[in-house]
Amino acid sequence: MSSSNQTPLIQAIEEYQAKNRQRQHMPGHKGQKQALGLFRNWGNLAGWDLTEADGLDDLHSPAGALKQAQEMLAAVVGAKQAHFLVNGATVGILAAILAATAEHPGCSVLLPRNAHRAAWNALALADCQPVWLPVQYLPHGLPLGITPQQLQTACQNSPGCQAAFFVYPSYYGVCVDLAQMLAVCRENQLISIVDEAHGAHLPFIAPDMAATRLGADLVIDSWHKSMGSLGQTAVLLQNDRPDQPGLWPERWLTMLQTSSPSYPLLASLDAARAEWSEQAAARGLALQQEREAIAEALQQTKLLRLYNAADLPPHFSYDQSKALLYSAAAHSGWQLAEALRQSGLEPEFADWQWVLLLLSYADMLPANGLPQLLRALRRADYILQQTPPRPINEKYLCQPPSPQKVLNPAEAMRKPIRKVQLKSAAGLLAAGLLTPYPPGIPWLGPGELIEPEHVAAAESLLQAGGRLQGVENGMISVLDFA
Ligand SMILES: Cc1ncc(COP(=O)(O)O)c(C=O)c1O
Repeated sequence: MSSSNQTPLIQAIEEYQAKNRQRQHMPGHKGQKQALGLFRNWGNLAGWDLTEADGLDDLHSPAGALKQAQEMLAAVVGAKQAHFLVNGATVGILAAILAATAEHPGCSVLLPRNAHRAAWNALALADCQPVWLPVQYLPHGLPLGITPQQLQTACQNSPGCQAAFFVYPSYYGVCVDLAQMLAVCRENQLISIVDEAHGAHLPFIAPDMAATRLGADLVIDSWHKSMGSLGQTAVLLQNDRPDQPGLWPERWLTMLQTSSPSYPLLASLDAARAEWSEQAAARGLALQQEREAIAEALQQTKLLRLYNAADLPPHFSYDQSKALLYSAAAHSGWQLAEALRQSGLEPEFADWQWVLLLLSYADMLPANGLPQLLRALRRADYILQQTPPRPINEKYLCQPPSPQKVLNPAEAMRKPIRKVQLKSAAGLLAAGLLTPYPPGIPWLGPGELIEPEHVAAAESLLQAGGRLQGVENGMISVLDFA
């Protein structure tokens, strides 16, 4: 029985810290005090824990210090406007889709099937109809994304679309041909929304690849992932086009964000912007050196391999802040992750086939130590050599087939629900999202038909050690109506 003075969450965090693993996961500061100058001031965090007090401006109507900080960030990333977010890229995606579709209730939005769950939720809130574009996969299960040709065809087949949503780069680090996609959007008068959650560093280290510089209308950057600011910090960027009516994401942000924003979060965005502005070149070089060091180390290993971005097909490229690992002996990604943990390294995520390491400038700080990372990779390789591969079910390397949409997300959210056993759910309509997590890309959404393949893939994933949001104790929520 637990007593009221126990603090299970604090205990869990302390235990995690005590493991002292090399953090190849978010947030991008990697737990390093040196990663952001501001952290040195936070011995007295309580003193900094302010919200909208006298002289500190107002996130919902910025006119002073916050306005200035947002303008400075917009200028350095090449956007017309920047809106600071304290609920991650998630809230930026919600506000962007709501803003892009507000004047056209019931309109359609084009999206790749690997869109984050936040995009699904935005569709439900905005009452839009999704037009899903299937994602191309490599045969060994790497989701790539969509192509400009696919987008062009979808525009011709679905003339009522108001906006197009892109994932760039993906969680796996793959970048679609965004420049071409944006040209298709302009030709078809579509508002372009780019989920650049994993690419906040692009404007600094690869400006030619940054969505704002390529001319996207609304761009969402998750700064906590790669920039060193605190967890939950992100930015919504806006590029007003002269030929387009104004987009007003702030109308939606003010509805969706807290009225008591945390100033340590906001201040960490300001600090990260200032430091990146000064050190972009050095940090870009640090990332490159880290990737090269990993590639070199993995040339000497027997089984652990780095996915070679040069193997990507035309129209796709790779983001330098990720390292995707696999086993030459067909161990599953979860087995790889376990071997890495036993070797003192915590990866960002694992799936059937892959393990992803999140790289960041903070990995190259003297206190963190690239040597520890490289040692862990070598040790994990040794462990893999002693570990028999658990067979991977090749059938499930790719997403299960795109389901049939019976109701739109908003319609489905208004229906009653009930819980049923996953194993008997085929033939019913999903009430919520069924999402392997990470990477947080739903297989099924509200109003879609659950097919036997989804049940089989879900059971197989759970058996293999994966995590699945939407299934609890073997039960899944379905719509309950005749
Ligand atoms: C592609 C993608 N978009 C959006 C998000 C949401 O970002 P945040 O955690 O900042 O809300 C994630 C989260 O990992 C993501 O992977």
